[in-house]
Amino acid sequence: MNFQTTFFVCLCIQVSLAEKIRYDNYKVFSLTPRSADAVKALYEMEEMGMSGYNFWSRVGPVGTPVQVMVPPYKVGELEATAEKVGMDMEVMLGNVQEQIDAEARAETEEESGFGWTKYNTLDEINDWLENITVQYAPNVTLLHVNHTYEGRSIVGVKVSFGPGNENRSVFIESTIHAREWITAATTTYILNELLSSENATIRNLAESHDWYFFPVFNPDGYEYTHTTDRMWRKTRVPHSILCSGADPNRNWDYYWNHGGTSGSPCTETFRGPQPFSEPCCRIMSEFITSIGEQLVAYISFHSFSQLLLIPYGYTPEHLENYEQIYQIGLKSAEALAQRYGTQYRVGTVYETIYQASGSSADWVKGVFKTPIVYGYELRDQGQYGFLLPPDQIVPTAEETFDSLITIFREYYADVATQ
Ligand SMILES: *[C@@H]1O[C@H](CO)[C@@H](O)[C@H](O)[C@H]1NC(C)=O
Ligand SMILES: *[C@@H]1O[C@H](CO)[C@@H](O)[C@H](O)[C@H]1NC(C)=O
Ligand SMILES: *[C@@H]1O[C@H](CO)[C@@H](O)[C@H](O)[C@H]1NC(C)=O
Ligand SMILES: *[C@@H]1O[C@H](CO)[C@@H](O)[C@H](O)[C@H]1NC(C)=O
Ligand SMILES: *[C@@H]1O[C@H](CO)[C@@H](O)[C@H](O)[C@H]1NC(C)=O
Ligand SMILES: [Zn+2]
Repeated sequence: MNFQTTFFVCLCIQVSLAEKIRYDNYKVFSLTPRSADAVKALYEMEEMGMSGYNFWSRVGPVGTPVQVMVPPYKVGELEATAEKVGMDMEVMLGNVQEQIDAEARAETEEESGFGWTKYNTLDEINDWLENITVQYAPNVTLLHVNHTYEGRSIVGVKVSFGPGNENRSVFIESTIHAREWITAATTTYILNELLSSENATIRNLAESHDWYFFPVFNPDGYEYTHTTDRMWRKTRVPHSILCSGADPNRNWDYYWNHGGTSGSPCTETFRGPQPFSEPCCRIMSEFITSIGEQLVAYISFHSFSQLLLIPYGYTPEHLENYEQIYQIGLKSAEALAQRYGTQYRVGTVYETIYQASGSSADWVKGVFKTPIVYGYELRDQGQYGFLLPPDQIVPTAEETFDSLITIFREYYADVATQ
């Protein structure tokens, strides 16, 4: 028995014995720091990865709310801290487990295996990707990029309606952060529209590009959110005795460890011991390199906060075609708001949320100078956070597709007038 086999056997036993982690009476607070001390206190809480506080968004400057999940036994301590340093507290979710249970009920009530009225498992998504390669052959082909830490392929599809579009390739990435389920739901919806819509504008957009869709970029983490811990964010690589996982969106080899990351394996933003330490990031970077020069666009989907983000995250400087991408971004956000009134903010990662280095978007933009690079933070603004109710999947996907269509329309209008 070689090492590989031993490893898989152990892993299976571990998974089958593992109980699902429960979040009974855990609350999600929106905390707004009102002083420099309050900001410092939040940073300290975030850095103490094992402290029990689970940060759902990142700490920003004074006045910027941050969403934090808090176990029941920590609520008193948090209230005391808030009073001491000057921090407003608002309850967003009163009982996280209730929300997780509601999501699970939607899954079991749904009859067919795959759809957009519930969140799909990794197997369902991969089966569906395989099915559409049969249904839409030869325009859709399956891609397996091997292997993640737990031995999975990262499954994607290439959509191409004919030769000649290779230098207009578009790459769509979602669920690099495992718990951001709405992102895979949205990108599979958009993929389905590109294949099946009869609208002339959409047909034209679909057929004038080659598309690469990787709905689940971090399959080990995504599977873990379904089997064990709904709130898991990172990879599953064990980096310390107590804590697993690095943040796969802080691990890319472009200004890696240039601020806005953590060196402590127990935090949510652990950058990993070195660039591309995480197998999922390394193998996807090799795949992206093989088509890097052909990309016209790279779009990365996250949740939540309702933001349309522009590189870079490592520096406050406005580089390359920032001005163009900012203007297009404003129009895109306007288009997004038209359908349901959902409001997005547009700006660089650094300015809009926080400094963050080692992201996939920074790497793509920095290495290939891809003209169109955006990162979406989808719905909502913290009311449900990662536990966005399944009845919001279709509206989220529709408005996001509206905004994506606008990005391409405005970009080509720009190119034509230059
Ligand atoms: C894939 O196609 C098969 C055969 O048509 C069907 O039974 C199955 O439900 C489909 N799975 C998904 C996830 O669409
Ligand atoms: C594949 O694309 C071609 C060219 O656009 C189209 O004519 C054909 O109908 C497509 N096939 C399927 C199965 O959708
Ligand atoms: C990845 O692994 C799968 C399953 O083992 C295999 O079918 C596929 O050919 C591999 N792909 C690559 C690119 O090596
Ligand atoms: C894509 O760009 C490469 C490099 O510039 C070029 O060699 C190739 O012919 C282009 N392909 C198409 C279909 O225009
Ligand atoms: C086709 O889609 C575009 C973009 O979403 C939209 O503006 C247009 O109204 C649609 N056309 C029809 C006939 O529905
Ligand atoms: Zn994310």
